[in-house]
Amino acid sequence: MKQHIVPTNHEIRLEPTEFIVTKSDLSGRITYANRTFMSIANYPESFLLGKQHNLVRHPDMPRGVFRLLWETLGREQEFFGYIKNITSDGSYYWVFANVTPDRDYSGKMVGYFSVRRKPKQETIPKIESLYREMIEIEKRTGPANAPAASAQYLNQKIREMGTSYDRFVLSV
Ligand SMILES: Cc1cc2nc3c(=O)[nH]c(=O)nc-3n(C[C@H](O)[C@H](O)[C@H](O)COP(=O)(O)O)c2cc1C
Repeated sequence: MKQHIVPTNHEIRLEPTEFIVTKSDLSGRITYANRTFMSIANYPESFLLGKQHNLVRHPDMPRGVFRLLWETLGREQEFFGYIKNITSDGSYYWVFANVTPDRDYSGKMVGYFSVRRKPKQETIPKIESLYREMIEIEKRTGPANAPAASAQYLNQKIREMGTSYDRFVLSV
């Protein structure tokens, strides 16, 4: 269960050499976290294992982004995206995340694997304004339809740019 953390304006910026790595089961429960994740998110390993990844979910993140993430993983494809996360003491950190299906030797999907790195700094304001628009849509739509409505808005905006979601996130 996610605990309530009060967000602050304190930002933690990843070093270009830092990679945050986690693995999860099929429901998103953490089964592995590297030292960088523990030190940035500020949790000991004993606390993290078995917790849902929404432990680091920041309230500024539109639900539509996670709708897209789970839809993509549901098709057994890899997801790329910009994610603002919250630490145990309310600080935030932006990452460029890649989440992929994790398979056993027989090819059976057993969970997911995520590697996150420092995003390009100049991209953050563009993503922030896009996510603010998505959150506005979510507020207007109401909780039940919010993720679908804002994901649809994002897809439509990307279509208008004449590109696909993957090409968009990899190019900004
Ligand atoms: C491997 C993996 C990594 C994830 N990493 C994050 C992450 O860094 N931040 C985040 O907010 N959600 C992450 N998620 C998505 C969460 O599981 C969850 O869908 C999201 O935080 C929204 O949670 P909520 O709908 O309970 O609010 C990840 C999911 C998987 C499978």
